[in-house]
Amino acid sequence: MHNLSIKKLFTTIVLLICLSALFGCNKKVDNSTVDMQSDSQNNGNLTVIGFSQLGAESDWRSANTQSMKETFTEEKGYKLIFEDGQQKQSNQMLAIRKFIQQDVDYIVLAPVTETGWDNVLLEAKEAGIPVIIVDRMVDVSDEDLYTCWVGSNFEMEGKKVCEWLKCFCEKRRIPQDKLRIVDLQGNLGSSAQIGRTTGLEKSARENGWKILEKSPAEFTQTKGREVMRTLLRKYDSINVVYCENDNEALGAIEALEEAGKKIGSNINQGEIMVVSFDGINNSARECVKNDTISCIAECNPLHGPRVEAIIKSIEEGKIPPKHSYVKEDLYVHDLTVDTVRVESIEYPTTVLE
Ligand code: AHR
Repeated sequence: MHNLSIKKLFTTIVLLICLSALFGCNKKVDNSTVDMQSDSQNNGNLTVIGFSQLGAESDWRSANTQSMKETFTEEKGYKLIFEDGQQKQSNQMLAIRKFIQQDVDYIVLAPVTETGWDNVLLEAKEAGIPVIIVDRMVDVSDEDLYTCWVGSNFEMEGKKVCEWLKCFCEKRRIPQDKLRIVDLQGNLGSSAQIGRTTGLEKSARENGWKILEKSPAEFTQTKGREVMRTLLRKYDSINVVYCENDNEALGAIEALEEAGKKIGSNINQGEIMVVSFDGINNSARECVKNDTISCIAECNPLHGPRVEAIIKSIEEGKIPPKHSYVKEDLYVHDLTVDTVRVESIEYPTTVLE
């Protein structure tokens, strides 16, 4: 009799373990089992989101990560599983496969480069998990491999800066064919690099600008400084430094200052002009105020609420737009150019004060 009760007790424990394992595998986390103390956790199930961030290379990236973490909180009904890819596509693929095993509700991917995602996205699709691409784009054989994308029009950003440069030169009587440009590129193969480099190349062809060299600076301040030092040793005619993000620009400015160069928009007086992208970093914004950076095309990193709106619409049974572009500003030092027109759209400039 005594043995029978022990057996019964054992069977009950095994049953309880199995049940809890079963609920643990469920897509929606039953938050009442996580922490009985918290009020917010008695509100029902959490939506589980696996976010594969590409890295932490820039201030833009930090702001982007923060926006996601601030948006997808347990208080608001989410469980965010964050994975830092450390600039490696292989790490991001591992993260996505882990999310599939964990059977998350949504996968959010900020891809380091555009190509190479077909197989892993097919796996996510076959597992029935919606994939939202954020910030940079993926270049895949079939657009049905992901649910939707939200981010910036990087080529348009490049064209905006270039159109501003062209108009600025016209207004200040700087001959277009006098421009000698170096391009500090972002990570090669990323949408931000591809779009911004393409924008510059097209404008250079149209306006007769000379691009002395394009050199990858990995979107970091350290690499921006290193690449600029090398370029200054190679060329003494540089008068425009086109940096594909603000961190690179801050590094390039350090190198220019070290070399005793005059920085600013007065190209006719021998100054070297720096232009850039992002506009989230306070130091870079200060540089615009004092004309150390003459123009920044804003790239907005605050995607958390945008991704949340997409998820909410999917939860309501709606189909979100396949591609959503973020509206972005053009920050300048002064109103020499108050509007730029690209592809028949007018973009007013904003003076940072
Ligand atoms: O993809 C967005 C770009 O990536 C930002 O311009 C840059 O700062 C970041 O590293």
